[in-house]
Amino acid sequence: MSSVAFPRRLTLFTMWPSLAWAVLVALPALVLSVSPTDELQDADVPQSGYLPNHNVDPANLGSYVMQWRDTFNTNEMFHAKPLVWTPPGGANEYVTVVSNQNVIRVLDGLTGAVVQQRTLDPPFLASDAQCGDIPNTIGITSTPVIDPSTNITYLYSKGYKNGAAGGGAINGQYKLYAVRLPSL
Ligand SMILES: *[C@@H]1O[C@H](CO)[C@@H](O)[C@H](O)[C@H]1NC(C)=O
Repeated sequence: MSSVAFPRRLTLFTMWPSLAWAVLVALPALVLSVSPTDELQDADVPQSGYLPNHNVDPANLGSYVMQWRDTFNTNEMFHAKPLVWTPPGGANEYVTVVSNQNVIRVLDGLTGAVVQQRTLDPPFLASDAQCGDIPNTIGITSTPVIDPSTNITYLYSKGYKNGAAGGGAINGQYKLYAVRLPSL
């Protein structure tokens, strides 16, 4: 696990200056994208860590405006990168966030309102991990991936065998989920 500090609150910044928007709409749609700025996975396919379809540039920081802010459960943290996806035929982008409490949420990209929410098995307890990297619970830590041709997102979630709420390290298990968006 990397020792990156993660914010307890999820805050997303979006910029809509007219110049940047004009540039955005001029971009050709990428193969994996439904909308030019959708972000369907952690990085590009070779995992270089960079997706070229965004206007997120340090030079533009001064023009960013906070669009919305969401605060969820106590001790809920978001280790995975939020993904951005536009439902086929949808009016605007949705943001999918997954947490250390094994909660998946689909948020409206324009307002931050919760469109859909699903709680998976109780999360694995950090106290069973004997490792100090992640506090409280270890639910979903890695970034999911979205397959835009099927509207399905794939993710790993850590909990215990048989969906138990505990049981020690020996009973810990990861499950790989395939979850339909946006209904979850
Ligand atoms: C994906 O979602 C859209 C919009 O809800 C729907 O029309 C389409 O049939 C879905 N695709 C699949 C493969 O289920």
